[in-house]
Amino acid sequence: MNGHYAIAIDGPSGAGKSTLARRAASEFTFLYVDTGAIYRTVGLACHRRGVDCHDEPAVSAILPELDIRMGYNEAGEQRMFLNGEDVSAAIRAPEISICASDVSSLPAVRAFLLEMQRRTARENDVIMDGRDIGTVVLPDAELKIYLTASAEARAERRLKELLAKGVETNLEDVLRDIEYRDYQDSHREIAPLRQAEDAVLLDTSEIGLEESCQLLFRTIRERLGIGSEKA
Ligand code: DC
Repeated sequence: MNGHYAIAIDGPSGAGKSTLARRAASEFTFLYVDTGAIYRTVGLACHRRGVDCHDEPAVSAILPELDIRMGYNEAGEQRMFLNGEDVSAAIRAPEISICASDVSSLPAVRAFLLEMQRRTARENDVIMDGRDIGTVVLPDAELKIYLTASAEARAERRLKELLAKGVETNLEDVLRDIEYRDYQDSHREIAPLRQAEDAVLLDTSEIGLEESCQLLFRTIRERLGIGSEKA
């Protein structure tokens, strides 16, 4: 370790990574880093400029023009900035989820974002969630978790979240998006979603949020030997 703890949480879309990672970050006073938000910001930039998210030369051409930064508000929530604009809400639109998944399969995009993620982990105790954190971004993380749940359970949870935010959608569309992203995220050539050999598997298909949270907290305490206030 480099003087800081790193916990990597990988898994498919909608497994509850961000909710659980945020809760654990607050419990153990780590910085929570949502790396999906960074890919979403690139997806949003392409979408706004009318760039085809599958077209690597076209996407690569706009990367040098993108100033992507992460920040944290007073409540400790991660905000994303694209060329100075706070795009934290805009990157959550369902069409941007698809653009994010599309651009994330491009090697140029992954290389562009790698150092930003590693630098954050060098400078802070982090709980970082994504698809390749334990396998590629932070292979030396002190703890790796692979968090998953069935596609149906994930679609139902995601539907509730979207409806609560006022997004008009239905279970069929949400499940289709999840299956599209599962397939694409785990079949791409570069840094595909997969469980690292040394990751602890947590399957939350059959358990609720509170139970999943307690399971995660227990795993962190046992594996890292730390309590809620890091000693
Ligand atoms: O976690 P999310 O749904 O917000 O992520 C959006 C997309 O970004 C997802 O489809 C896959 C991609 N992603 C990735 O390839 N690697 C990461 N570390 C995080 C996200």
